[in-house]
Order: sequence, then structure tokens, then C-alpha cells
Amino acid sequence: MTVDTPIIGLVGQYIVPLALSMVILIVVRRLWYEYLIQNRDPAFDAPLPDGSMGWPLIGETISFALQGSEFYEKKFQQHGRLFKTHLFGRPTVRVRGAENIRKILHGENDIVTSYWPATSRLIFGTDCLSQSQGPFHTRLRKHVASAFSHTALAGYVSLVQPLIIDAIDDWCKAPAGVTAYPECRSLTFRVSGKVLCGFDYSKEETASLIDHFEDIFQCLFTLPINIPGSTLNKGLKARDLIAKKITENIQRKMDDDDTQDALRILMEQDMETGEIPSTSATVCRAIDLLVAGYASTASAACSIIRQLHDNKHVLIKVRRELKDHNMTQPGSPLTLQDMNQLKYVSNVIKETMRMSPPIGAAFRKALRTFELDGKQIPAGWTVLYSIRETVGSSDIFADRNNFDPDRFASERCEDRSGDRYNYCIFGGGPRSCIGKSFAVMLMRMLVIELARSCNWELLKPESVKINQLPTPHPVDGMPVRFTALNNVDHNANSVVFSCESEENPDAN
Ligand code: HEM
Repeated sequence: MTVDTPIIGLVGQYIVPLALSMVILIVVRRLWYEYLIQNRDPAFDAPLPDGSMGWPLIGETISFALQGSEFYEKKFQQHGRLFKTHLFGRPTVRVRGAENIRKILHGENDIVTSYWPATSRLIFGTDCLSQSQGPFHTRLRKHVASAFSHTALAGYVSLVQPLIIDAIDDWCKAPAGVTAYPECRSLTFRVSGKVLCGFDYSKEETASLIDHFEDIFQCLFTLPINIPGSTLNKGLKARDLIAKKITENIQRKMDDDDTQDALRILMEQDMETGEIPSTSATVCRAIDLLVAGYASTASAACSIIRQLHDNKHVLIKVRRELKDHNMTQPGSPLTLQDMNQLKYVSNVIKETMRMSPPIGAAFRKALRTFELDGKQIPAGWTVLYSIRETVGSSDIFADRNNFDPDRFASERCEDRSGDRYNYCIFGGGPRSCIGKSFAVMLMRMLVIELARSCNWELLKPESVKINQLPTPHPVDGMPVRFTALNNVDHNANSVVFSCESEENPDAN
């Protein structure tokens, strides 16, 4: 009796309530599952994709927040090419595989439509390219494309090159080194700000503008709560500040500034067609482009610095190609035509993005129920098409963990050996990246100027850890020390500007 009493007390006090709570949780989860299963369209025989919808309302959002990109990797390992989940309050399917991606990208406005979180629409409105829909999107896209034509890009080269040279020069003048990722963000912002929005500010002014710009960027994927101090509230204020700067530039362009940047090209085209948008619409379109290209290009730039460091033999081959084309003089003027001849440089950029796709995935919303890979995707669900896992798991790439730019050379063309959506770095179909050529041009110029003007070493090579979200970036920012080539001791064992070093790829 004396022994039993505390046990009975314990059972009554803890075990029964605990068991009851467990039962309630299991029932609630089951009800949630039954509720969601009603999304299944009975007109389709195909089952819903495998996967879990997690807990009521929060779904699997907490697991995702804790695990980041590993959440997706594990699910793909478990379920194959697509799985269902429930994220940010919405039933979601994440999909990989070239064929599946083809169906989604070419099903725009039929089975799916582009979908952005609510905060993006609050920041940009629906009048800009990324947020617009239907026939208006088609017309606007044609218009914006004129800012990325061959002629337009050729004109941007002389705007971009001095900024890249200037940045590398600064990096080389920091004996203790710089943190590569924030530097790449800053460079991308300066270049895009200059080309897309006509910014022409000092480094100090640019630094303060970047802080505001980061506020816009941060709020794109947060909750749409606009109260003082909230992330969205900060983002909206920052948007207004950047908008004010662009409005000033529009005014300047109307007065006397005839720099052929994207803003000017688009304004001139508006004049020609007579379809002149409001100043606020022009401003939002410019901010949209600035935001769309900012983090992705910065991520790619930082990956370039890392890959050329880790693969010295590749850097040496880049230098050889520059030598073959008489382009070794640091800072000598570049043209689009010259750059287009540098096939190996192009392949280095392609390979860098294959190893680390700057954009991991993009959102769609199912307009009607459709079938994918033998499963049904119900109308209204979010569809996340996965670039990172598609490119990363594609078996058209031989020895795919190896950094090998020659896989894109004309003799091998691995990217063309199967469905082209195995390499879908810039998306595809009517919503493919409009800034692709500009981004590639910027990266080419970065590779060229880096290769011909400096050497660099990672200061903590052993601890480079990459966080994939929102865009791949080194967790510690990646400290790097740059040395101008004219300061290199050519007698030392360093990668000097010499093709002979190719014979000894391990030489540092
Ligand atoms: C390495 C750099 C870049 C990568 C990897 C990249 C990738 C992508 C991808 C995958 C998409 C398609 C998203 C979807 O399917 O919904 C996209 C769309 C877009 N990109 Fe880029 N991008 C880059 C740079 C840029 C730059 C520099 C700009 C601007 C100058 C830009 C502007 C846009 C815009 C406006 C869209 C939306 C197009 C539309 O909805 O019609 N991107 N980008």
C-alpha cells in the first residue's frame, strides 16, 4: 500500500494528462490530414504526392526553418522527384527533375502562374516585371528586354568595368584581407545601381544606400505585418528612400544626363511608343530589376572567387586564354565582342553556377489541378520548382562533384546531351531570367579582371561553410587576401601571370 500510493499519484498527476495530450495531438494531426486530403481532386485518379503536411496551420514550417536547405534534400531522398509539405501556411509541392520543370515552366498561365509572397507585392506593386501577370506581363517583358539587348549590353561595359577595377584595387590594398561575400554584394549593388537605375554615388553614399537596400531585400520573405519596427515596415521605408533617389535620376535624365543606362533606354522607348508610365511605375520597375539581380549575382561572384582559388589549374587556363587573346593588361578596356571570344571564361562561369546555383528554386501556384510524375497537384497549391536539386542530381554531368569547366566545351557539351532543363540556372519559358546576359557579362568581367590583376588566398579555407538560403553564401563571409599581380614576388612559388605554370597546377 505504502509502495503503491506514490505510483498511483504519479500516474494521476503526470502520466494520464500526458497520455491524454498525446491522444489529442494525434487526433488533431489526423483531422488536419483529413482536412487537407479534401484538396485532392476526385476527377483525377492520380494520388497526391507523398510527404507530410506536418502540424495544423504551421505545417512543417518550423522543421524547414531549423534545417534550411537540408529539409528539402532529406525529403527528396525520401520521396523521389516530388513531395508534398505545408510551408508558410500553404500546401506546397516541391519538384525536381528536368521533365517536371519543363512541364511547369511551359505551363505558365495554363497550369501554373508565377507566385510571390504577399510582402513582395506590397513592396513592388503589380506594375513591375516580376509581379505582373498575363498579357500585361508579356508586353512589359518585351519592353524591359530592350534594356538587355546586345547593343544595350555593349554600352554598359564601359559603365561596369571601372567599378570592378576599383573594387579589386581596394581589395588588394587591404593587407589584412577583406570579407569576400559582403564585398561582392557591395560590388553588385554598385554595378546594378549604376546600370539599371543611373546611380552615381560616392562609395560612402553607396554604403549607406546598401543598408537601406538590404532592408528591402530582407522583407521579401517575411510576414506581411506592417507595424512600426516590423521588417516589412522597415522595407517599405527603405523602398521609399531608394525610390526617391531613382526619381531624382529620372528628373536628371529629362534635364541633361544622357548616360545610356537601362533607365534611359526604357524611358526613350516609352517616348517612342507613346505609352508613358507614371514615374512611380518606372521607379518600381527599376527597383524590381535591382532586387531581382542583387543577391543572385553577388552569390555567383563570391562562388567565382572561391572556385578560382580552389582550382588553381582553372585560373591558369583562364590566364592562358587571356594571353591568347592579347587581353592580359590589367584594366585595359574590354568590349563585348572581345569577351564573347573567351569560351573558357564562359565555361568557368557556367561551371561555377552548376556547382552552386545562385537561385535554388522559384515559386508557382497551380491554376488548376494537373498531373506531374504520376501524382496530382491540386488547384491552388504552391509549386516550388527546384533548380538546385535538379542540377545537382542530374546524371548528364559526368563526375558531377568535380569542378570541370571543360564539360561545357564544344567537344563535350554535357549540358546539351539531354533535356536542357537539367541545367536550368536561369529558369526557362515566359518567366526566364530577363537579366541573364547582363549577369553573365558582369561575371565575365569579374573573372577577367581578377585573373589579370591579382592573386588571392582564402584566409580560412578549411572552414568555408555554405548556407544555401536565401542564396548560397559563405556563413563567415569568406575572408580573403588579394595581392595585386605587380606586387607578387615572381620568384616565389606563386601563380604568376604565366601559362607555363599550367604544367604545375598545384603551384601556389
Ligand atoms: C547569376 C545571376 C542570376 C540568376 C542565377 C538568376 C536567376 C533567375 C531565375 C531562375 C529566374 C526565374 C524565376 C522564375 O521562374 O520565377 C529569374 C527571373 C528574373 N530575373 Fe534573374 N537571375 C540572375 C540575375 C539577374 C539580374 C542581374 C537581373 C536584372 C538585371 C535579373 C532579373 C530578373 C527578373 C526581372 C526576373 C523575373 C522575370 C519575369 O518574371 O518575367 N536577374 N532569374
